[in-house]
Amino acid sequence: MRARAKWLLAAAFACVAVWAGWTYSRSAELRHGAELYAEHCANCHGAQLEGQPDWQIADEGGVLPAPPHDESGHTWHHDDAMLTDYIRRGGQAVLDDMGVRMTSGMPAFGEVLEEGDIAAILAFIKSSWPDRIRAVQAERNGG
Ligand code: HEC
Repeated sequence: MRARAKWLLAAAFACVAVWAGWTYSRSAELRHGAELYAEHCANCHGAQLEGQPDWQIADEGGVLPAPPHDESGHTWHHDDAMLTDYIRRGGQAVLDDMGVRMTSGMPAFGEVLEEGDIAAILAFIKSSWPDRIRAVQAERNGG
């Protein structure tokens, strides 16, 4: 009985250690994502992910302002592959590939950011969404 109790205690400690490790690395990723976002994205997409004013209305040149990344925007309508591609190659390359005739104001960050950086920024953006929205977007990733 005592051995069993000791084993249970050890198992409980192991669980807490794994959970704490996971929480720690996750919060480190979110911090990294928030820093990169502030440095590279906030001047267009807003410090609070709020986007530019009247972001649904294109300027005279037909270029749309930067949309919000919070739940009021449409970032969560897209799967991770599309979002990563948009950030890596920029809006124009992706729109051209899709045959969408539109000029994009979204620059390419493939030369500036590593894949892990882009993932961290996306994790940070997702952390601003309510659970309901996060679940809808996760479904678009096929789970
Ligand atoms: C120079 C301004 C500018 C900067 C800097 C910028 N963006 Fe954008 N971004 C835009 C504009 C404008 C659009 C909308 C036009 C379009 O969709 O092609 C956009 C669109 C996007 C989209 C796709 C639209 C959607 O559904 O949300 C994503 C994702 C995105 N940006 C992420 C980022 C990230 C991440 C960064 C920082 C690494 C960043 N952007 C930096 C201007 C910018």
